[in-house]
Amino acid sequence: MLYLDACAATPPDARVLEQMLERQKRVWANPSSVHPAGIAAAELLERSRQRLLNCLGWPDGQVVFTSGGTEADNLAVLGLGRSMSPGRLLISPFEHPAVSAAASQLQLEGWQVEILPLTDHGQVDLNALEQLLEPPTQMVSIAWASSELGTLQPMHEIAERCAATGVPLHSDAVQVIGQLPLGRLAPMGPDLLSISAHKFQGPRGVGALVLKRDISLQPQLVGGGQEAGLRSGTQSPWLAAALVDALEQRESQQPQLALQLQILRDGLLNRLLCRSGISLSGSTDLDQRLPHHISLLLNNDKGEPVSGRQIVRALAERGVAISAGSACSSGQDQPSPSLLACGFSSREARSGIRISLGPWLKPQELDDLPGLLESIVSTSGAIGS
Ligand SMILES: Cc1ncc(COP(=O)(O)O)c(C=O)c1O
Repeated sequence: MLYLDACAATPPDARVLEQMLERQKRVWANPSSVHPAGIAAAELLERSRQRLLNCLGWPDGQVVFTSGGTEADNLAVLGLGRSMSPGRLLISPFEHPAVSAAASQLQLEGWQVEILPLTDHGQVDLNALEQLLEPPTQMVSIAWASSELGTLQPMHEIAERCAATGVPLHSDAVQVIGQLPLGRLAPMGPDLLSISAHKFQGPRGVGALVLKRDISLQPQLVGGGQEAGLRSGTQSPWLAAALVDALEQRESQQPQLALQLQILRDGLLNRLLCRSGISLSGSTDLDQRLPHHISLLLNNDKGEPVSGRQIVRALAERGVAISAGSACSSGQDQPSPSLLACGFSSREARSGIRISLGPWLKPQELDDLPGLLESIVSTSGAIGS
């Protein structure tokens, strides 16, 4: 299989996996236990917490280990929202359901949820944000990059505007962390950041919500009061350590890794865009996109949009793994909210695919893809209107 779906999941790094299995054999006790085995587990967990903060350059921050990005997003949005009286929450149209569904939940609890408009390039409109950063706005949650379009958000400008008005900013950074050098990301950071290890060749089932400063959150899982009371449930020190191992591993390869992926992406993208019926969606400024990400819109030889989902299936039958829009919504043939927000018609917004690359790929493996995609797309039936 030619695996081009890194935004959905990445293969675990062999060294990270090996170290994790080794630790799993040795450090399996409950980190809340007070005997030596428990203390060893607690030490591993606390060391991992500090290493993650050091990696992010947030030494005074707080880490809440979670089961992944979804739980981190839920804790940020619901936890912040439920710690204050209802007001207005600003989100973007390209949020992962872990944020948008949490926002809908808050709406049922009296919050007003406003979806920020985008510029033509798929970035949050900063003027609109600025105008809405006044009462009753009480929090903002904007993904650092749209997982579907790959467009990076002007997080520095967003964070500056939120800080100036004292409105807490959460960012779902699940698609960004591990893909770009952390030194480029963290200093301009939001107040809360969601991370998921399986997006950067770490293990599945572990993530983190990182708080840059002291922020009041209502726990969403209650019980034994682990993770400073913010996330009950016995922690897994070896999963937490493996998350940090994977991130450090990625970071040690930066900035070359991002550059290498960018070169791979640019070569493939140029060859794809020479083919008929294939066009780029999202930002045309490639520096404003995730370095490993390509999002395309597809038209058949009659110039009509074809279903991105059908193309994904046809490629899968030929041994190529990609996705239509975000992996979590690829089971539903619905127009993409992100593409609709960028001004595409409902039919065009169902014709998107995402190709996402990783360091396991060799350039020559991608040679046949443009021709294969063109031949499938050109003869595909149009999407019904
Ligand atoms: C932007 C974004 N946020 C959150 C998630 C959910 O993360 P997890 O799968 O770790 O729950 C994903 C997963 O695809 C994602 O792409």
